[in-house]
Amino acid sequence: MGPLGQYADRIHGYFAFPKLEGDISNRMKFRGKEKLVWSLNNYLGLANHPEVRKADTDACAQYGLALPMGARMMSGQSDLHEQLERELATFVGKESAYLLNYGYQGMVSIIDALVDRKDVIVYDSESHACIVDGVRLHLGKRFVFPHNNIENLKKQLERATRVTQETGGGILVITEGVFGMSGDLGKLDEIVALKKQYNFRLFVDDAHGFGTMGPTGAGVGEHLGVNDGIDVYFGTFAKSMASIGAFVASTKEVIYFLMYNMRSQIFAKSLPMPLVVGALKRLDLVRKHPEYREKLWTITNALQNGLRERGFNLGNTESPVTPVFLSGQTSEGTNLAYDLRENYNIFCSVVGYPVVPKGVIIIRIIPTAVHTLEDVEYTLNAFTKIKENLDAGKYSTGEIVDISK
Ligand SMILES: Cc1ncc(COP(=O)(O)O)c(C=O)c1O
Repeated sequence: MGPLGQYADRIHGYFAFPKLEGDISNRMKFRGKEKLVWSLNNYLGLANHPEVRKADTDACAQYGLALPMGARMMSGQSDLHEQLERELATFVGKESAYLLNYGYQGMVSIIDALVDRKDVIVYDSESHACIVDGVRLHLGKRFVFPHNNIENLKKQLERATRVTQETGGGILVITEGVFGMSGDLGKLDEIVALKKQYNFRLFVDDAHGFGTMGPTGAGVGEHLGVNDGIDVYFGTFAKSMASIGAFVASTKEVIYFLMYNMRSQIFAKSLPMPLVVGALKRLDLVRKHPEYREKLWTITNALQNGLRERGFNLGNTESPVTPVFLSGQTSEGTNLAYDLRENYNIFCSVVGYPVVPKGVIIIRIIPTAVHTLEDVEYTLNAFTKIKENLDAGKYSTGEIVDISK
């Protein structure tokens, strides 16, 4: 059944595969009761924005979900797909962009296309599963560096350079803008600085940074002032844009190369028109309404400062992703999350062993622009109480609740 599947009978429908119902907002229904929801990547609050809902509905009425049929290369091309690509490229400061049907598949396929057996991949140890799966397809050497450890990255680059001197290949460094579980940033500035010493190209998965980070929302490269040092940039529509689909941006040459060599797009149907029209509308709102991002950061700062003042360990987050690190067994983590959900009506995700080491519990909170400062205050008070319970061992005795019963 696998590491999580073995608990399926206990967690299915509650901690795993829960059903959140109603319009996407700070308050939704879970098992018929209203909850304060802190677990959706609807960072800018676009999911239920009236203009977004209208654009999606109108586009469905106008085009249906079939158009355009076939892969982009064969028959699935449209002016609107090209327009969205031009607008995305301009927004993230690159020459060209190419749409991807899914972020995950797209990442795997970009990695597969960019390297061959002569090349070496060097990647961060905490990379998202889509990077790990892309690396798995690679037929050449791959070297991993411990998360954000630049000294070790240098060692891996030296090893990689020795390999490529023999094979005649190149080096691709892959990391993330915002690490989605811990909220810390890839050290893109330090990595870009290494280009003076080593010959490599940098590919950044900025799924959580696109729309949330940087003065205009163009991502972590913009935030750290090193956009030009990113050779290949990836963003998804599944988070800030509150939709589905993704894109890759780079030079004209690299994007042309991907258009003609990326298997996930060559051998799959084009992104349906309503998703393209919906993404154009969302991008327009991201550009025209910096106040959505400002509101996201107001909520983020209030929440993170409040939790830190109350003694919670948030690790090294520098993004809206807010992990609360607690010590305890997985059963304590599930009891605690159950208590939050049932007695405080707060819905957030909890992560324990085997996703993180034994003895560590992470409660992951995702602030958005549709949360309020009252939501933050309420949550801070609830967290103070659950921490008291955890420290008093109440969740380990099953005093509050034992979901295994
Ligand atoms: C870092 C990262 N990369 C890629 C993806 C995949 O994106 P999508 O949901 O668009 O497939 C995600 C989403 O979970 C992510 O967090």
